[in-house]
Amino acid sequence: MAIIEAQALSKHFKVPVRKTGRPAAVLNLFSLQHTRRVAVDQVSFTIERGEMVGYVGPNGAGKSTTIKMLTGILMPSEGQVKVAGLVPHRERKRLAYSIGVVFGQKTQLWWDVPVIESLRLLREIYKIPAAQYKINLELFNDLLDLHEFQNTPVRQLSLGQRMRSDLVAALLHNPAILFLDEPTIGVDVVAKERFRTFIQQLNQERQVTVLLTTHDLSDIEKVCDRLMIIDKGHIIYDGPVAGLKERVTPYRVLVVDFADGVANVAIDGAELMEREGQQARFRFNRHEVSASELIVELAGKYRVKDISVEEPEIESIIGEIYRRSAAGQDLGSSL
Ligand SMILES: Nc1ncnc2c1ncn2[C@@H]1O[C@H](COP(=O)(O)OP(=O)(O)O)[C@@H](O)[C@H]1O
Ligand SMILES: [Mg+2]
Repeated sequence: MAIIEAQALSKHFKVPVRKTGRPAAVLNLFSLQHTRRVAVDQVSFTIERGEMVGYVGPNGAGKSTTIKMLTGILMPSEGQVKVAGLVPHRERKRLAYSIGVVFGQKTQLWWDVPVIESLRLLREIYKIPAAQYKINLELFNDLLDLHEFQNTPVRQLSLGQRMRSDLVAALLHNPAILFLDEPTIGVDVVAKERFRTFIQQLNQERQVTVLLTTHDLSDIEKVCDRLMIIDKGHIIYDGPVAGLKERVTPYRVLVVDFADGVANVAIDGAELMEREGQQARFRFNRHEVSASELIVELAGKYRVKDISVEEPEIESIIGEIYRRSAAGQDLGSSL
């Protein structure tokens, strides 16, 4: 049985209709006009134990609302959801033992209390056995250098330190599933790298299932094996991260550094995109021509110092998926 199951899951919010202008603002106080905002629309997916799933989409797409339904914070308007065999909004307390949650925007820790005191409180709340608490604290200390700031109140921590503390707090009770909603927002590059290594290790050693939303698509590329993309409440893509570039676009870029000044450069089967000093960038379709054929041709025509092939950035790949979805193309068959 899948550890997370969502079946035609929807969430609608009732929001007041806003009229603009000052007199209208006064009228709004009395008007009972509401409209329905569909935040999540008939979303279905299953996640197996041990999967690491990236959940991405533009602001307002419905990511946090989905996570709130999966963790029992919000009640779905329609559809079914089961997490670790439980219905989240009905069995929220029981579910808490199986899940850990980190919201990058909001700490789960006590603001004025030193980090270590918050952790001790959580140990009491979850009735974590002393041995398990010790093992976990030592492991997380090793991986996240908790000792550097464990006696500091949460309000004085940097964003990176706070994220590390929240991760530890979410994991002390050995949950099977970890929900991460924008955990790396505002966090510096070094702390991000640590976060990625930590999550990978956690997944490898403890088979923790991870659902991660992030703006930083390189988090997804480095951490996740599966990607789900949501746009306007609909899942528009769900598939493996590996091979995504292959499936979305056949175009690659050949970067050539010439040994000496060449006036006009042209090669068959590739289109010149950019020329700067001794460097040229060509775009080619790898279904039509291979990089090695192009390299042979180039070397025969010009004196070449260096050649490399650039893969497209994950950002541009995901941008392409949005574009195709907006154009109404069926992504299921083309990807
Ligand atoms: N409590 C709420 N009341 C009304 N609308 C909400 C509420 N929470 C979220 N929304 C709306 O639902 C949509 C999805 O929001 P959200 O799930 O937070 O998106 P994301 O996390 O992908 O940025 C947005 O249009 C947002 O304004
Ligand atoms: Mg959000």
